[in-house]
Amino acid sequence: MPRQLFVTTALPYANGPFHIGHMMEYIQADIWVRFQRMQGHAVHFVGADDAHGAPIMIAAEKAGKTPQQFVANIAAGRKPYLDGFHIDFDHWHSTDAPENHQLAQDTYRALRRNGLIFTRDVEQFFDPVKGMFLPDRYIKGECPKCGAKDQYGDSCEVCGAVYAPTELKHPYSTLTGAAPVRKSSEHHFFQLSSSRCIGFLQEWTVGAGQDGSPRLQAEVLNKIKEWFTVDEFGHGGLADWDISRDAPYFGIEIPDAPGKYFYVWLDAPIGYLASLKSYFDSGKARERGEARSFDEFMADPATEQVHFIGKDITYFHTLFWPAMLHFSGRKTPDHVFVHGFITVSGEKMSKSRGTGIDPLRYLQLGLNPEWLRYYIAAKLNGKVEDVDFNPDDFVARVNSDLVGKYVNIASRAAGFLARRFGNRLAAELGADGRTLLEGLQAAAGDITALYDQREYAKALRETMALADRVNEYVDANKPWELAKKAGEDARLHDVCSTCIEAFRLLTLYLKPVLPALAAQVEAFLRIEPLSSVDASRLLGAHEIGGYSHLLQRVDAKLVDALFEAPAQAPAPEAAVAGKSGNGAPASALLPGGEALAPTIAIEDFARIDLRLALIVDAARVEGSTKLLKLTLDVGEAQSRTVFSGIQSAFDPAALVGKMTVVVANLAPRKMKFGLSEGMVLAASHVDDKTHPGLFLLEPTAGAVPGLRVR
Ligand code: MSP
Ligand code: ZN
Repeated sequence: MPRQLFVTTALPYANGPFHIGHMMEYIQADIWVRFQRMQGHAVHFVGADDAHGAPIMIAAEKAGKTPQQFVANIAAGRKPYLDGFHIDFDHWHSTDAPENHQLAQDTYRALRRNGLIFTRDVEQFFDPVKGMFLPDRYIKGECPKCGAKDQYGDSCEVCGAVYAPTELKHPYSTLTGAAPVRKSSEHHFFQLSSSRCIGFLQEWTVGAGQDGSPRLQAEVLNKIKEWFTVDEFGHGGLADWDISRDAPYFGIEIPDAPGKYFYVWLDAPIGYLASLKSYFDSGKARERGEARSFDEFMADPATEQVHFIGKDITYFHTLFWPAMLHFSGRKTPDHVFVHGFITVSGEKMSKSRGTGIDPLRYLQLGLNPEWLRYYIAAKLNGKVEDVDFNPDDFVARVNSDLVGKYVNIASRAAGFLARRFGNRLAAELGADGRTLLEGLQAAAGDITALYDQREYAKALRETMALADRVNEYVDANKPWELAKKAGEDARLHDVCSTCIEAFRLLTLYLKPVLPALAAQVEAFLRIEPLSSVDASRLLGAHEIGGYSHLLQRVDAKLVDALFEAPAQAPAPEAAVAGKSGNGAPASALLPGGEALAPTIAIEDFARIDLRLALIVDAARVEGSTKLLKLTLDVGEAQSRTVFSGIQSAFDPAALVGKMTVVVANLAPRKMKFGLSEGMVLAASHVDDKTHPGLFLLEPTAGAVPGLRVR
């Protein structure tokens, strides 16, 4: 019976482009999906952007966009990554789409009817300037243990202390610099701690999928056991889940609760269903031969639901998500497959430093996407283990396995077949060739099981061991010598035909990992797309096409280039300016030493309120070698204080009485020496060491404070 599978990967936050961690997850899932399709199973593979939450709302605001525009922009950049690495999603959607609003609200209503939603007041930090509750990550202050300044609300980077944000001394909002106040508001909770939920989850987590294999990996189960455990003091165990956030929030409104939104993690996994629904409604499922509606498909008990995720989001997917689904009357996942993280040369990826591997740069440098697919697959297993990308290992692995062992087989045989036998394979093979091929065919069962269990490393190791056997056969028979001997034509034909038959079988086993290469091979061999049934057949007296080069060796220099930081800030204009020159260094062509910033719309500029200001007073700041404290008249009832990093260039006394330009609607910033209520503008070269000089802006005669610069 063909299986019918609904497969997803985690929905990436729509706050930035894909990184190598995302690509690893997609490659893992894509291999599994392609493999299942080759087995004749029906697979519907969907993804979506995770659009909601405070960080995206704030990032959008910083970029001068609505959150909708901001996430649309990110979504528009997804395709080159997915196409580039042959990730075969059937559909890509967004958690902000109407389907998700509807499904999330329906789910909530069902949970409420089921008596699993309650409300309770929660006291939290609130930014009085911004008028919003502050997620912990937007609160900083002094460490309560060691007094280090500017520490986050959860732990101190200096002394390592762990604490609650409420324990910080002199806390401030990183959004406005304002001191947060404690404020209470009503929150909605999902009652995960109820005996109904716990009872259900205790059974669900140890159950099996419809394929009969355990629903969750053993390591994941161990982790869940810890989460379930209540210690002798009554601590631990599953806690109720706060699923609401107060406006302003970019999210989905909670029914019958004005001003309240679902916490992003409530509607994010529902986005799996929303994407699948949109895919069905768009008619694409029909193209895949699924004529039923989304509701009918999901109501069919035979439909298997499978999620691929990283280890950091296990709690959401193995506790919250199945409980939400079950108690809102829906199908629960058959499997949640958890993978580890990818590191680069043993180092964890960092948001700020990046990873050294930008997937788009990888493609732009001309590195073959299937090298990366192969390398990652060759390191993946069914456990929750981290995977390391090591550049030297990458070069060695791809060159020795794919080029040295696999492609080599075809290139060694194809020339003789073309020159001597009109590209027609021998109808009859010798006993040794038949034995070799039977051995290759016999491995199909093993390799199939390994792919199904996501043991890709083992599947590929086994495939390469088969390739070794074929190469030994070639070395033993030496076709290049047979070709020179008289009367050995039949044997040469036999050996080369055996090689091509073997090459076809190896291609079949590699196809989930190397889909584009497999397609090239299918064209070369003039065969239909390979699927699992092809393991039990041979080509026989078949005419193949002419061989053309299938796969390049990895050039280590290209891999080095991948790790070289781009010379300048990655503004696209910089690259153009650098190239268009007449041999002069790029910087010589750049005004002020830097490329122009990306183009903005007039609306973007209009958000910046520039005003003329009279410098009423200017003084050095004790304890700072950089700052001047300016007192500015901006035409308001009260003067403003602005701390400006211009001490090196100006004598304070010479500034008093001058007019200049100030950014008047910049969020006030709490600095060590006091609150700074704006920013004065000055011009400088990007490299102030080689090009010293700092120039304040001054209006022409007759201007008065408070006039807007537009
Ligand atoms: N938006 C949530 C997921 C919601 S699912 C309903 C999220 N997004 S994410 O962009 O941060 O991560 C997306 C996926 O990438 C997650 O499965 C995460 O584990 C995975 N990875 C992020 N960094 C990774 C590595 N360094 N290595 C491998 N996978 C990693 O979480
Ligand atoms: Zn500390």
